[in-house]
Amino acid sequence: MTTLLLAVAAYLIGSISFAVVVSKVYGLSDPRTYGSGNPGATNVLRSGNKGAAIWTLVGDAFKGWLAVWLVIRFAGQLGVGDGTIALVAIAVFLGHLWPVFFRFEGGKGVATAAGVLLALDIWLGLATLATWLIIAYAFRYSSLAALIAAVFAPLYYGLLFGVEPQLFAVVAMCGLLIWRHAKNIGNLMAGKESRIGSKSKGAT
Ligand code: G3P
Repeated sequence: MTTLLLAVAAYLIGSISFAVVVSKVYGLSDPRTYGSGNPGATNVLRSGNKGAAIWTLVGDAFKGWLAVWLVIRFAGQLGVGDGTIALVAIAVFLGHLWPVFFRFEGGKGVATAAGVLLALDIWLGLATLATWLIIAYAFRYSSLAALIAAVFAPLYYGLLFGVEPQLFAVVAMCGLLIWRHAKNIGNLMAGKESRIGSKSKGAT
């Protein structure tokens, strides 16, 4: 019962779409109506408002971090273990992808996944972020950086901790993240993907 309640709470936290909320606060258009149509920091950046993009990134990462950090921090008091931590990690990520508060029209999960990974383990999160930064710096594609980081994150987890329930959560999360980037993958292969900071359309 506790596990189910925690998973639902995590899903609700994940359902707060910071791209939409922050854009409203800044008086910008709904990010689902321009650019790639994705409610995420990369697309909010296409509005030209860097502050809104940064707050979207921070908010979406923070909610992922918070849900997982809380369950790890209070696992003893709550009487839950690794399986519940893994479920909460997946639930907050699912909330971002299919938010109940926004007609289930969510994002691709990059920032939220980063928050989840940082909460699971700081070195896991930093290694994944470093991977993202290296690819983003080298190629200037946010989506490519996310895709490569999503391939490496489960490998990092396996190397650091071996096979445990959280590894399956990381694999599922990264698999979903890659699947949500199907259009970006098509655009990358066709040479049509927009680069970081460019205001052109990009994938939907
Ligand atoms: O964070 C999402 C990013 O990887 C791709 O975003 O808007 O270019 O589809 P977008």
